[in-house]
Amino acid sequence: MPLLSDLFARSGASTAIDMFSGTTRVARAFKEHGADVTAVDITRYGEVLARCYVATDSNLVDLDRLASELDRLNTLSGHAGYFTKTFCLDARYVQPFNGERVDAIRNDLEGRQDDPLFSVLLTSLIEATDRVDSTTGVQMAYLKNWAPRSHNPLELRLPNLLPGPGRAVRGNAVDLAPELGPFDLAYLDPPYNQHRYIANYHIWETLVAWDDPDHYGIANKRVECREPCSSSPFNHKPLMPDALRSVIAAVNARLVVLSYNDESWLGLDELFEACAGRGHVAALAFESGRYVGATIGIHNREGHKVGTPGHRKNLEYVLVAGPEDMVEHMVEPYGKARVDRAA
Ligand SMILES: C[S@@+](CC[C@H](N)C(=O)[O-])C[C@H]1O[C@@H](n2cnc3c(N)ncnc32)[C@H](O)[C@@H]1O
Repeated sequence: MPLLSDLFARSGASTAIDMFSGTTRVARAFKEHGADVTAVDITRYGEVLARCYVATDSNLVDLDRLASELDRLNTLSGHAGYFTKTFCLDARYVQPFNGERVDAIRNDLEGRQDDPLFSVLLTSLIEATDRVDSTTGVQMAYLKNWAPRSHNPLELRLPNLLPGPGRAVRGNAVDLAPELGPFDLAYLDPPYNQHRYIANYHIWETLVAWDDPDHYGIANKRVECREPCSSSPFNHKPLMPDALRSVIAAVNARLVVLSYNDESWLGLDELFEACAGRGHVAALAFESGRYVGATIGIHNREGHKVGTPGHRKNLEYVLVAGPEDMVEHMVEPYGKARVDRAA
């Protein structure tokens, strides 16, 4: 994250698109640099988080009303409904005493989608629920015994809103890439495998949709999670390479920054190929935050193979593509992390 924030600052960009914005961590980092950011994600919860953290201009928010809404919601009495039954009694993601409050708060918000505070309050509820859940992070399963934090009372907090304009768009990056823009910089952080984010975070999706969906399995995932309609080409190995190439080719931005890793469906050479049409390409590789270009079994910039495959660990790649002078300026402090395609 500090790397992406630094690359963004060095790019001098003042407009950006994050095509796979998810939690909006990266989009937020760009907005913190004063950029006008557009955040795109295919999930409902991704759109709500983006409306809160990217599209909301903190200078235009009625902070007194927001604070009093949070206070009011925090004192609502619990009332068991779909959430409590599905996620607290049939499954054990959240303790029932908290689940009843989630039901009451979310019911209170329902029908208020036009309120400018809606996405901020819903984001606050999503995050509050997350802080007292009994999982190891993703919502594919819950712990056998209640996690210590699940005993804490649910507490809505004020999300850290940022000043300035921004936009949230829900949809498929393949369709949206040619339609949005222009931007100074596009950031792409596509899914790495077949696991759909809507399944990993199905409780967030249900908190947003609030549609009492039929569910399946021990995890009580929304039935939608196993239907093709929730699918993304980025979660299908045969479709992913062309989908990524088409987004890279179509996105209307001077600079493209792509995050990927070496355990997924495309190799470093293919990533270079995919970015080649954007101009000059530089790639950085990191292992656990460490510079690794000179220590693992890939090629350095002189084309020499260095290190032994036995030492290989998971590598995070960041590719930067665009006008040569801009790309070289952006990656200049990261010379030790530079890697090249195989000789
Ligand atoms: C690796 S995550 C991105 C994480 C993000 N950078 C963050 O800071 O949280 C990939 C994201 O792509 C989204 N996604 C999957 N398929 C998509 C598609 N076809 N179009 C747009 N977003 C998609 C997922 O919902 C997920 O949030």
